[in-house]
Amino acid sequence: MLNQEFIQNLEKKSLAMLELATTPSELGQCEIDILGRKGMMSTALRALADASVEDRKAFGPKLQKLKKSLEVAIADRRKLWEEAEEAKGAALFDPTFPVDPVLPIGHMHPVTQIVHEIEDIFSKLGFAVADGPELETERYNFDALNFPKNHPARDMQDTFWVKTDTREHYLLRTHTSPVQVRYMEKHTPPLRVIIPGKVYRNEATDASHEHTFHQFECLVVDIDVSVANFLWLAETFFTEFFHKKTKVRLRPSFFPFTEPSFEFDIACHLCDQKGCSVCKGTGWLEIGGAGMVHQNVLVAAGYERGKYTGFAWGFGVTRLALMRYHISDIRLLLSGDTHFLSQF
Ligand code: DAH
Repeated sequence: MLNQEFIQNLEKKSLAMLELATTPSELGQCEIDILGRKGMMSTALRALADASVEDRKAFGPKLQKLKKSLEVAIADRRKLWEEAEEAKGAALFDPTFPVDPVLPIGHMHPVTQIVHEIEDIFSKLGFAVADGPELETERYNFDALNFPKNHPARDMQDTFWVKTDTREHYLLRTHTSPVQVRYMEKHTPPLRVIIPGKVYRNEATDASHEHTFHQFECLVVDIDVSVANFLWLAETFFTEFFHKKTKVRLRPSFFPFTEPSFEFDIACHLCDQKGCSVCKGTGWLEIGGAGMVHQNVLVAAGYERGKYTGFAWGFGVTRLALMRYHISDIRLLLSGDTHFLSQF
């Protein structure tokens, strides 16, 4: 029955319900119960539609007014809560608060820093950067690199063999050279690529030997590539790396995968070649192996014998890190000792 008392009751009841709502979700439920499609207000408005003309005239505007004021009351309350929440959040988060200076900030490992420097220098010279698996097959690590079966050359590198049931023998790669063959299988000359990576040797460790270290391979294959090209590249690279004109010296050596093969040394910058404890008085530092890629290796990679020539070199990135930072014990690098690493 629509009359003055009904409207007053509706108002009282609605305000009481609003008063009881203490959370945003309770307020939401209240809104549905009062103003929703099946709520008290809609029921009253539907009753108004069925009422006599006089009643509609008398109570219609009053109901509409009540409806408006309840909408405003609900909206006001919601706004109040939202502002309170915002104020709470603002109190918790002060964007001007300084960062805790005690929090340690990480950085690249010194060896990674050196690898990135090397990659930058060679990228500028137009070289690609490649990598390959650390778990390698005997075929790529030895056979394709022209190590004869049962030849003592295989013992030049103490190998961690991996037990498997497969016909293929697996090992932790002893050098980055197998990636030369993997790369050549997928590319045709002219090619210029560097291959930095981790290698493993099954040997006793001491201040200058580690079972796990980083190497860096360089490979150039084209028509008529010569030792002179290699010498130019090596001097250009080391001069860039040390920011100082650096001479390179070759000495005859043997590797199954190169012919001729060289050991290569660089001028010792620590003493300006006058002789010091690091270069053992010689003025030269042994840096790695190099040579003209053996035709058997080019053939193993799928190239026609005699069509191309190329040079390759490999050396320890780890050794460069030791030299650059004057580190006396190689084992510190992979020790995970954060006191040591935080210096770089
Ligand atoms: N792979 C050799 C080693 O680890 C180093 C090496 C020698 C790499 C001569 C080469 C090379 O590319 O031409 O002892």
